[in-house]
Amino acid sequence: PGAFLVAPSLLSADILNMEKSITLLQGTHDWLHLDIMDGHFVPNLSYGPGLAKALRSSYPSTVIDAHLMVVPPEDFIDAFAAAKPDYLTVHVEATPHLHRVLSRIRDLGCRPGVALNPATPVEWIYPVLPMVDLVLVMSVNPGFGGQSFISETLQKTVDLYRHRVAHNLSFLIQMDGGIGRETIREVVSSGCDVVVMGSSIFGTPDPAETIRELRACVKG
Ligand code: DX5
Ligand code: ZN
Repeated sequence: PGAFLVAPSLLSADILNMEKSITLLQGTHDWLHLDIMDGHFVPNLSYGPGLAKALRSSYPSTVIDAHLMVVPPEDFIDAFAAAKPDYLTVHVEATPHLHRVLSRIRDLGCRPGVALNPATPVEWIYPVLPMVDLVLVMSVNPGFGGQSFISETLQKTVDLYRHRVAHNLSFLIQMDGGIGRETIREVVSSGCDVVVMGSSIFGTPDPAETIRELRACVKG
């Protein structure tokens, strides 16, 4: 553990000034994280494939990861894959046909990711780990930005890190929810490769300086 990528969550960006919010990052970010919520899998609504497509055309070389909090993901993956995000992540709890969905995502030209809610045992996704490029460990209950970090979820990241080494796999480990100055250090030292942060970045006046400071929290 040590090197990590920063993926700002656009859920906390200024919705009427999305482009300005991204410009304020001044390229200090690594990825852009897009939260798609359907009002069924999670108790909130966000955006559809239109925003994913607009982001791709404005930022052709930025790594975009779309986190689908929708049920059933089968009904939406074709539309989102058409927007060409780099990673397309679905929840293990959202479908009885996870293997089929992940295969389909790869066939559609995206890198498949699988996400786990805080109460879901990490063992549930062991059978599909050889076929994914990303595992998203949720560290809050999905649906809203600005919630408190659930520290019990860190053990899942530790387990995934060990499992990856033991089985010679190469998926990235991502954590999402409640991460900021107080928690980023333990998140990275538990084995997380990609840190998603919404309110702790966009809730500050200078998001670029905030990202630099957050990176320093891990080193210092
Ligand atoms: C939660 C989303 C997160 C959220 C994180 O449902 O998946 O990406 O935006 O926001 P913070 O970092 O504020 O917890
Ligand atoms: Zn997310």
